[in-house]
Amino acid sequence: MHITQLSLTNYRNYSRLMMDLPAGPILLRGDNAHGKTNLLESIYFLSTTRSIHARADQQLINWLILKQETLPFARTEATIKTRQETFQLAITIVCEGDNLRKDIRLNGVKKRAMDVIGKLTTVMFLPEDIELITGAPAVRRRYLDSVLCQINPDYCQALSRYNKVLAQRNALLKELYKRNGNSDQLTYWDEQLAHDGATLITRRHNAILELDTMAGQRHRELSGGAESLRLHYAPSFDVFQQAKPNYQLPLLLEDLAPYTTAAPPVKEVRQTFLACLQQAHGEEINRGVTLTGPHRDDLHFLVDGIDMTLYGSRGQQRTAALSTKLAEISLMREITGEIPVLLLDDVMSELDATRRQHVIKMVEQAGQAFLTTTDWEDYDPNFRRRARLFSVIMGQVAEVTPDFN
Ligand SMILES: Nc1ncnc2c1ncn2[C@@H]1O[C@H](COP(=O)(O)OP(=O)(O)OP(=O)(O)O)[C@@H](O)[C@H]1O
Ligand SMILES: [Mg+2]
Repeated sequence: MHITQLSLTNYRNYSRLMMDLPAGPILLRGDNAHGKTNLLESIYFLSTTRSIHARADQQLINWLILKQETLPFARTEATIKTRQETFQLAITIVCEGDNLRKDIRLNGVKKRAMDVIGKLTTVMFLPEDIELITGAPAVRRRYLDSVLCQINPDYCQALSRYNKVLAQRNALLKELYKRNGNSDQLTYWDEQLAHDGATLITRRHNAILELDTMAGQRHRELSGGAESLRLHYAPSFDVFQQAKPNYQLPLLLEDLAPYTTAAPPVKEVRQTFLACLQQAHGEEINRGVTLTGPHRDDLHFLVDGIDMTLYGSRGQQRTAALSTKLAEISLMREITGEIPVLLLDDVMSELDATRRQHVIKMVEQAGQAFLTTTDWEDYDPNFRRRARLFSVIMGQVAEVTPDFN
């Protein structure tokens, strides 16, 4: 798929941008702070309805108009062409006093976020991708959620319900502690939580199995065949009702054996999850939080059996993160039948020659890829000749003709 037209209004430092976009690689060059990241962020925002950088959506509105106008808004809008169809996506954020309203439209018709996520699929590459390995479990869960939401609308709906039920259940746990209440009241919430939780767990499990195979291949290529990467899902309770693998190092594949086959049927996972919840009522009331469930999952990256989060060298961690992101493209392609739009923000300068080559290979297979840089020289002349070149200057983007050979 590719974006044929992009229009931004009051989006960050873009007061007004209207661009026709070619398919294939698009190289954007600009000095620091001219708007390269903002442009990629706006595309990611259309794809996921969330900003990858902003803590609050309000930050996406151009700050000059935020002060001046009574109803300040920011809009990002794009026309997207897939093999099947051409459609238009638009998100407007309107600031109404203390309230922020998000208006999402598909072909002009108002939609919920979960109805449009996954229409435009993207994979974003950032220098901080290494945090997928080095960061806290929450970073990995967020990553899984953002991938799975894009490829699976059911997942997105289950996640949204799960989070609401979790908050309500936690509130009830605190309440029960205060009132010394009866844990029978939890039964209803247990069932709700297990219903959607089981969907999340089985989908995560099966997606990780696929990512595992693809990331393993990429990692082998990137490490010149020297290293073997495995992705291993670590749910917060024993989904397979077998002994959890022991985490003594090195972790052997035999230890993971039950985890390398497809997840049990969702019904079974629901029953197991429900039993775990019921068992823990006493402790949960004392602590006021739900102790098991997908909100406590983790994902392990193992190179030759060693957990990269704990023991990886910086280079190994970077390679594992890159392999996983490259695998994400293949996963999306396999499930949706379309290669996602690639967004590479300032990543080339960080990569060595081999890694660069692999990234460029994926870029050239994609229907469209946006790559930002501060220096044309980060890309070899052959690639620059195949790409369309744009310069980004103070929130304005213009195509440039190459003056190098
Ligand atoms: N809400 C906003 N309103 C107006 N300007 C904003 C807003 N949010 C961010 N900016 C500004 O937009 C400018 C461009 O930011 P951006 O991150 O896109 O730069 P960049 O070209 O990626 O730079 P770098 O090469 O340093 O990564 C920055 O000066 C930033 O402060
Ligand atoms: Mg930037």
